[in-house]
Amino acid sequence: MKKDFLSLLDIDEHELESIVADAVRLKRLKSAGTAHELLRGKSLGMIFEKASTRTRVSFEVGISDLGGHALFLNPQDMQLGRGEEIRDTARVLARYVDAVMIRAYSHATIEEFARYANVPVVNGLSDRLHPCQVLADIMTLSERFGDLHGLKLAWVGDGNNVCNSWILSSALTGMEVAVASPPRYQPEDEIVDRARAMGGKVTIVADPKEAVRDADVLYTDIWVSMGDEQERAERLQALKGYTIDSRLLAQASPDALVMHCLPAHRGEEITDEVMEGPQSIVWDQAENRLHAQKALLVRLIGGGMTSVE
Ligand code: CP
Ligand code: NVA
Repeated sequence: MKKDFLSLLDIDEHELESIVADAVRLKRLKSAGTAHELLRGKSLGMIFEKASTRTRVSFEVGISDLGGHALFLNPQDMQLGRGEEIRDTARVLARYVDAVMIRAYSHATIEEFARYANVPVVNGLSDRLHPCQVLADIMTLSERFGDLHGLKLAWVGDGNNVCNSWILSSALTGMEVAVASPPRYQPEDEIVDRARAMGGKVTIVADPKEAVRDADVLYTDIWVSMGDEQERAERLQALKGYTIDSRLLAQASPDALVMHCLPAHRGEEITDEVMEGPQSIVWDQAENRLHAQKALLVRLIGGGMTSVE
């Protein structure tokens, strides 16, 4: 049966560990210049309803490193843009390509696509979740800390799609996720309940200082996500005071690391000083999108990593 990756909960903690371990091996192979064409001849369709820099380039370069190739599909240039239905597009594309990555405004679009496509479907970001980002983030933290169990991540700012995926991940990693968001922009209750029911340790507070106390990692994201542009003024108002700056960072554990999925708006959710400072690991996160997604694709459409050292 085909396996999709629409949410982190589509994998269990053992699969997560093994994807991260494979990603670290793939990173090593790439930096040594060793060929690792585990997906020779495979093709990946990539549908982007919204803009992207990291997701697009990392998937495209990733499958090319693995000996396959990607097709960038803009809905406006497809019949989708003229009203062809998702379920029809899904069934047709699945006859041509080996997997589809889709970035969509609505999570329901991705779910519908996955229901009808007879090949693995990967969520490249929706209004609800961004599992590929958090997969790469977990790899990045594993490189730094080894075992993640018991670490505390403080999310400061908008309780958005990336935040929701972090909350779900707590059920897999054993990390505590403490979210500080203004009341109107807190993460989805259903997601918090789900993570907690699976053993995740999640706390939601309004005060950033409370969330960052003893935190090993501080994480933030833009205040105005794609699709929220019409709420810009209210959001900037409500999120004032939720900036990760050096004063807030000083209240976390002394060696706390700072993460951001990017793109960043310096001066809003994070200051330039913190983003460029020694505790920031944002570029490693961005790089690891490549390695983590390669490991994911090998798992979904390849024969696994057994054939390479
Ligand atoms: N972090 C992330 O997904 O970036 P892009 O929007 O550039 O793909
Ligand atoms: N929360 C952001 C993430 C961008 C990678 C958005 O959805 O626009």
